[in-house]
Amino acid sequence: MSSVQQPIGVFDSGYGGLTILKELVKTLPEYDYLYMGDNARAPYGPRSFDTVYHYTLQCVQWFFDQGCELVVLACNTASAKALRTVQQKDLPKIDSKKRVLGVIRPTTEVIGQYSKSGSVGILGTTGTVISESYPIEIAKFFPSLKVYQEACPMWVPLVENHEYDKPGADYFIQQHLDRLFRQAPDIDTLLLACTHYPLLLEKIQAFAPAGTIVLSQGMIVAASLKEYLHRHPEMEQRCSKQGTQTFYTTDSVVDFDNHASIFFGEKLRSKHLELL
Ligand code: DGL
Repeated sequence: MSSVQQPIGVFDSGYGGLTILKELVKTLPEYDYLYMGDNARAPYGPRSFDTVYHYTLQCVQWFFDQGCELVVLACNTASAKALRTVQQKDLPKIDSKKRVLGVIRPTTEVIGQYSKSGSVGILGTTGTVISESYPIEIAKFFPSLKVYQEACPMWVPLVENHEYDKPGADYFIQQHLDRLFRQAPDIDTLLLACTHYPLLLEKIQAFAPAGTIVLSQGMIVAASLKEYLHRHPEMEQRCSKQGTQTFYTTDSVVDFDNHASIFFGEKLRSKHLELL
């Protein structure tokens, strides 16, 4: 293990993880962050367990090769389909002192605090919904909470194609919310369980019944990481603190830089990496 301090790795299949990184930087600005989007192979949402696991492990290994000691999978699909295997099977073989964290656990730890009706709705990619990760994890913390899920396969393409704030998006947002609320009209809390969906927040709030709480994960994950670093000083001491952010994409840097600002909130310059 290197004794030199290293940036915190933040991974997503593409752009969505930038909505998480934005909140990490706001909450924990002193740390260095190394972001990587696997844009060349996105979307992960419709892919099989094996494929998402294989891709995610390869990306985690890239972060470790750059020296990162701590990697956050800022992608629900990767967290749902690959995190557990990476933590339990791969990490002990690669380096038992390194850590990989996801976005599902921090969210499921708090979601029950928001609901008064006892019914919550999970909106995610097909992969995240099929994995049943949210109902399984929520049951550990809030056993009496009723959890309803809706896969929204059109929402990531709408965001990626800059249609997220256009009238064309309305049909698909309304369609999935209608399906979800038909399952349980008393749902009072919605979780955006995909890191792309915060860009659709305004429209989701407009089409959801009045008074519905709509939760994005960024602030929740940031608060959880702050708490984690507080509880783990041995890891905190291994994180470098110059307040920098470095960005890599597996696809075109021109495309990445053009799209990234809508997710991150400011312009950025990425570098290219080739995963073989
Ligand atoms: N950002 C991913 C997530 O949070 C969705 C994008 C994709 O399907 O690759 O699940």
